Amino acid sequence: MRKHDIRTATRTDIEAISRLYENLLHEWNVPPGDDAARGYLHLLERQLEQGAVFIAERDGTLAGAMSYIDAALTQLVPEGRAHLTSAVVVPAHRRRGIASALLHAIASNCRRLGIRRITTDCARDNTAALGLLMRQGFREYDETSRLNQTPADIFLEIDTEMLTAGGQDGRKDQN
Ligand SMILES: CC(C)(COP(=O)(O)OP(=O)(O)OC[C@H]1O[C@@H](n2cnc3c(N)ncnc32)[C@H](O)[C@@H]1OP(=O)(O)O)[C@@H](O)C(=O)NCCC(=O)NCCS
Repeated sequence: MRKHDIRTATRTDIEAISRLYENLLHEWNVPPGDDAARGYLHLLERQLEQGAVFIAERDGTLAGAMSYIDAALTQLVPEGRAHLTSAVVVPAHRRRGIASALLHAIASNCRRLGIRRITTDCARDNTAALGLLMRQGFREYDETSRLNQTPADIFLEIDTEMLTAGGQDGRKDQN
């Protein structure tokens, strides 16, 4: 039986999501008050309003979150595309299919909105994120748009249809 629930986040979740990201920044040794962290929280509020933040809960507690931006939120992303901006799962709940389930929930939502392509970027040395994305069928592409990243990042994409057809959510969340 599956032990996590996936849903769209609301404003009442903002504190718990913020804590989740603060813990991740701590895990990554990013100093508190860093500009990137402040920018992230600002973006999160806008994504929440748009229904572009999905969360996973286990026993009523936040276990993971994933969010995206699209053309409705910013002109940095072309029409028909969603760009994943963050994915984080509480360390104790990793490798249980939670991020995969969040990805599939976002894909279903995007499909409903007529978004045909999902893109994202991550550091080339982020083994976990790359493992997650490659396993779902994402492939590398050459990003020449205004999404402001560094050479250390890799851009990946997938057709929304392909992701929704894959359906691995909850596949191994038995413990
Ligand atoms: C990346 C992250 C969100 C993955 O979450 P998760 O819930 O553990 O992912 P899943 O359980 O759905 O993993 C699916 C598949 O991805 C791959 N994968 C996940 N973590 C991996 C790791 N540490 N090393 C190698 N492959 C990994 C595996 O193929 C895994 O399937 P398997 O467990 O059957 O082998 C999580 O590790 C995390 O929060 N990391 C810190 C934040 C981060 O780096 N976010 C992404 C960039 S912003």
